[in-house]
Amino acid sequence: MLKNSKFPIGIFDSGVGGTSIWKEIHQLLPFENIIYLSDSKNAPYGNKNKDAIIDLSIKNTEFLLEQNCKIIVVACNTATTNAIKVLREKYNIPFIGIEPAIKPAALQTKTNTIGILATKGTLNSELFEKTSNSINKNIERVEIIGKGLVELIENGKLYSNEMTTLLSSYILPLIEKKVDSLVLGCTHYPYLIPQIRKIIGNKIKIIDSGEAVAKQTKNILVKHQIINIEKRNSVHHFYINKSKKTLEMLVSKDDKNIKIFERDF
Ligand code: DGL
Repeated sequence: MLKNSKFPIGIFDSGVGGTSIWKEIHQLLPFENIIYLSDSKNAPYGNKNKDAIIDLSIKNTEFLLEQNCKIIVVACNTATTNAIKVLREKYNIPFIGIEPAIKPAALQTKTNTIGILATKGTLNSELFEKTSNSINKNIERVEIIGKGLVELIENGKLYSNEMTTLLSSYILPLIEKKVDSLVLGCTHYPYLIPQIRKIIGNKIKIIDSGEAVAKQTKNILVKHQIINIEKRNSVHHFYINKSKKTLEMLVSKDDKNIKIFERDF
């Protein structure tokens, strides 16, 4: 079932973090209309079990399909690593997922030690284990569960003392462990890059998958001949099932092509 090229791209995340992916996609594909679903009411997904993550991912997909989305970007590492296989089996539409970029990190590390900051749900998933087993065995992985980070970001506490303290407790030990590359395995975390830099300076390279996901989205649109060839300003609708305050902070609410709706779903 191929869809009309003018239909929107659908993006979902457990919350506002996937807007880091929306920004990359919008930058690369400025003429694509986008519908973004922020399931903030159910965030964080990272502490939930696989079945619960699958059920929520199905609910989000159904919402985006009702809006006629031609392709769905799962802008959540936790949902991708736990649910994308089920989504691809269940729906006849292309899905793009996001996984922690441990392969590029493994190729770049000089100390043979990489850090991965991600949710418990991502680090414990079968897909993450499979990808981990596929990289060079000599590379040591230091895995850190970013417990509490998503909640602080969802509550707009990006620049709070609480955030600095929590983040420091996760990333300062990486220096002693000789980590030279840190993979951000959650789409909320790119918003923490300025704070991470404040804590550890430029000692560690930070790697995230946002740009790669945008490129992959473009490739799939081209492959299925559903890229929007109309060169008009695109429209962006954001749906959130909690207060839109943090979302407004992260996306420019003054842009007349951006609309944010609070709605229960
Ligand atoms: N942005 C989600 C991710 O990439 C956050 C997960 C969560 O809600 O715990 O994994």
